[in-house]
Amino acid sequence: MARVKDKKEIGKTGEYVSSLGLGTFGIQDYDRALKAFIYAFENGVDNYDTAEMYGNGAAEEFLGRFIKEVGRENVFITTKIMPHNMVSRERAERSARNSLKRLGISTVDLILLHWSEPHLSLEKQIKNLEYLADKGYTRYIGVSNLNVSEMELAINTLSKHDIVANQVRYSVYDRRVEKNLLPYCIKNRITIQAYTPIERGEVVGDRILKEIGEKYGKTEVQVALNYLISQELVIPIPKTEKKERIEEFIGSMGWRLSQEDIKLIREKIPSRYSIDDLEEEQ
Ligand SMILES: NC(=O)c1ccc[n+]([C@@H]2O[C@H](COP(=O)([O-])OP(=O)(O)OC[C@H]3O[C@@H](n4cnc5c(N)ncnc54)[C@H](OP(=O)(O)O)[C@@H]3O)[C@@H](O)[C@H]2O)c1
Repeated sequence: MARVKDKKEIGKTGEYVSSLGLGTFGIQDYDRALKAFIYAFENGVDNYDTAEMYGNGAAEEFLGRFIKEVGRENVFITTKIMPHNMVSRERAERSARNSLKRLGISTVDLILLHWSEPHLSLEKQIKNLEYLADKGYTRYIGVSNLNVSEMELAINTLSKHDIVANQVRYSVYDRRVEKNLLPYCIKNRITIQAYTPIERGEVVGDRILKEIGEKYGKTEVQVALNYLISQELVIPIPKTEKKERIEEFIGSMGWRLSQEDIKLIREKIPSRYSIDDLEEEQ
């Protein structure tokens, strides 16, 4: 298979990564996953998502093994720190150091605040996140699961660094972000990393996606992923540990759905959550 060259800028950093990344949540068989990830890398996937929380650090250790195989300079690594570990500089530093140790690298490319915990001060956590960039634990910082008002608060709290990404749930079945968050991120040049982009396999068998896919010679999964890739600044990060599914993911890059087919998806596939609920939940 040819190495696909389909890249997108991360925020306004001037750095480009593949328009699809790979997630690492819930891996069952790390040896099998390693083979699948190397295959993905060889075919043009260069950005990978993990978190201190996944497998209690085991997912970061797995990515560490993977990075050794493919070379640190060839991949863009995102990890996430949980809110309760961001409440003080000391805790944030300890988390970052532990993540780096598990990943076997000296600096991560992007650290995200995993989510916002209502009873903890978001400003404090964002300041500590910025501190991690100041200290060189990460090159860039970002957030996850934040809505527009939380993002505004976060951006106003920062003094030196930009938020380059917000990682949120986004798929053809969950398009809540399209109402406010996506336009806000586009206006501010912030990447959306779309998680659960194939609804854990539920898009397989969708009649509308299948019909559209037939026109392009693509599967339902590939159409669902390309719907996201076709949106400005959106990078889906699906997960699989199976090589044949990696091959399917790769086939979602290097082409775009027509505007008519994007419109068709919006008209024919109802978003599972009302687009009006968005601000409350995202
Ligand atoms: N920031 C956050 O709060 C947050 C939350 C959730 C997820 N994430 C990130 O986003 C990544 C992806 O999200 P996700 O894992 O929730 O959902 P997803 O990518 O939509 O689905 C992954 C699941 O679908 C299965 N799958 C993959 N291809 C398939 C196919 N062709 N047919 C049927 N099933 C298929 C996978 O199993 P196999 O491995 O067996 O193929 C896996 O169990 C995560 O790994 C994580 O890195 C972030």
